[in-house]
Amino acid sequence: MNKIELFENQRASGYNQFVETWIPNYHYFMNNLPNLLKQTENKNLLVVGCGTGNEIERFVHTTEQWKITGIDPSPEMISQAVQNLKDFKNVNLIEGIVNDLDRSDKFGAATLLLVLHFMEDDGTKLNLLKNIAERLEFGAPLILLDITGNKTQIKENLEVLRLFLPKNLDKDDINNRLHRIENELNAVSEERLSQLLIEAGFEAPLRFFQTSIYMGWMTRKK
Ligand SMILES: C[S@@+](CC[C@H](N)C(=O)[O-])C[C@H]1O[C@@H](n2cnc3c(N)ncnc32)[C@H](O)[C@@H]1O
Repeated sequence: MNKIELFENQRASGYNQFVETWIPNYHYFMNNLPNLLKQTENKNLLVVGCGTGNEIERFVHTTEQWKITGIDPSPEMISQAVQNLKDFKNVNLIEGIVNDLDRSDKFGAATLLLVLHFMEDDGTKLNLLKNIAERLEFGAPLILLDITGNKTQIKENLEVLRLFLPKNLDKDDINNRLHRIENELNAVSEERLSQLLIEAGFEAPLRFFQTSIYMGWMTRKK
């Protein structure tokens, strides 16, 4: 129930190259995050599962005065984020989980990118979403990027993903990776994701982005 998917060793050091290779349009999605949250009045942003700091890097280069808290349980990912973001005084990086954050700190927006699909739908996903909701003020947006779809959608979109992948990748690596996504990760259907968000205290989410198995969702704290 509390299993944490830690990104360690090579998975941490090679992370940025990994996402660029395997997630089509990752850059495009990340680059547009500040646009998505531009109208948010409270610029206190919570970045859950911030990893190496990829989403935070997009916010520190905008003209808006964001105050950013990035949290991640992986020491290796957080230490890369600390290194990448050391020049920015408005960024606070924490090695830990959302539950470690004080409930009285209310954030004006949050992101949860490429985290939820690692967690089982046995209460673990719901707990994380509830913990985030508890730390957001009323109306605060939450942006998600997650592998989403029912079994058939995932199967068919994995074949689309295969077509998008760089031509120089090893065939066995591709097959192993696609097999792992289909059989070992914990993607849920669009309907189930919506149910989980509503149960956690959010509005029904809007799917605003999709590239093969990866869907971008936007919702608000109710
Ligand atoms: C695929 S990476 C995504 C990193 C970053 N969000 C991005 O899009 O580049 C998933 C991250 O989720 C973190 N993670 C795992 N369990 C978590 C949890 N319970 N709460 C927050 N982050 C978690 C991992 O340590 C890892 O850094």
